[in-house]
Amino acid sequence: MIMEKIKVDLGQRSYEIEVGCGNLFQTNFTKFNASKIAVITDSNVRGLFAEKLLELIKSQGVNAQLFEVPAGEKSKNPMQVIEIAREMVRNNFDTKSMVVAVGGGVVGDLAAFIASVYKRGIKVVHVPTTLIAQVDSSIGGKTGVDLPEGKNLVGTFYQPSKVIIDVGVLKTLPAAELKNGLAEAIKYGMSQDEELFEFLEQNVGNASPEFFLKLVSWCCSIKARVVERDERESELRKVLNYGHTVGHAIEAAELYEIAHGAAVGIGMNYEARIAVLLGVLKEADLRRQNELIEKTGLQAKYSAKTDLIELMKRDKKNKLDKIFFVLPNAVGSVKTENGKIAFPVEEETIRKALEQ
Ligand code: GLY
Repeated sequence: MIMEKIKVDLGQRSYEIEVGCGNLFQTNFTKFNASKIAVITDSNVRGLFAEKLLELIKSQGVNAQLFEVPAGEKSKNPMQVIEIAREMVRNNFDTKSMVVAVGGGVVGDLAAFIASVYKRGIKVVHVPTTLIAQVDSSIGGKTGVDLPEGKNLVGTFYQPSKVIIDVGVLKTLPAAELKNGLAEAIKYGMSQDEELFEFLEQNVGNASPEFFLKLVSWCCSIKARVVERDERESELRKVLNYGHTVGHAIEAAELYEIAHGAAVGIGMNYEARIAVLLGVLKEADLRRQNELIEKTGLQAKYSAKTDLIELMKRDKKNKLDKIFFVLPNAVGSVKTENGKIAFPVEEETIRKALEQ
């Protein structure tokens, strides 16, 4: 079995990302020395992988219990945290217990948040089962839940003890979900790695395990290096937000009925357009980016029904009414100046880009 191991070097909080195919059900859970394991999953993933994983853990002599939340973003809420934490208390989960998050981004963010606050913090292991969670959300320690006022407004930075990625599980993933993950992969390529961008150009439509093994390992390595240098997003980690300033506004405008990756695909188009208007990026590079986005089956264009600029101002990442952008200056790199990676852009320029 081919297996990549990528280390995230964060001193005492270092951990390993394991990327393989067929590796998940070979995992030895006794090595975590947990007194009890809470397998947290959702209603979609329960029957696909989580129940089988629970049985594997139990067969290794480890006490374990399954917690299921309804599939979808609505489960990422503080009441769900309280409900699961209370259930864990009633079932004697203690400070040596561990959470295993089995699912996509919603389950990962919610379960890791619970682990970060339960009895002041217990271990968490991520088992991401969607492409977007494998290339992005399971890495780097961001956890959180949503409030009625916005997404991810309550959360922590809390690194997992391990991330176990099995690309074999992607076989059951709907095409729309794969595209969702590919948007984040394009983000890494466009903002940081032209070779990755070329690999994506050459492999549009490839859905083989070999392709996903290479792609997921590549994206995880890029993210690991960023997180190692700027865990808490003082500046460098903002590079991972390329496409997300406009993307988050689109998600809010669509009342979160649009997939995150779909919104990021559109966001990259308009953010690259801003870079072109500012003379930072060549028109030809914008076209190359958008060709890849569209070939992947994602949309680059969007017609807004709401004022996206007002929504961008409300985003927690923007300060003092200024809207910040990561600006690509070529395929594979972004503008940096005096250690800065995100730059405020005038409303007029943003508006012009959005109208193009
Ligand atoms: N998804 C962006 C980050 O983890 O920083």
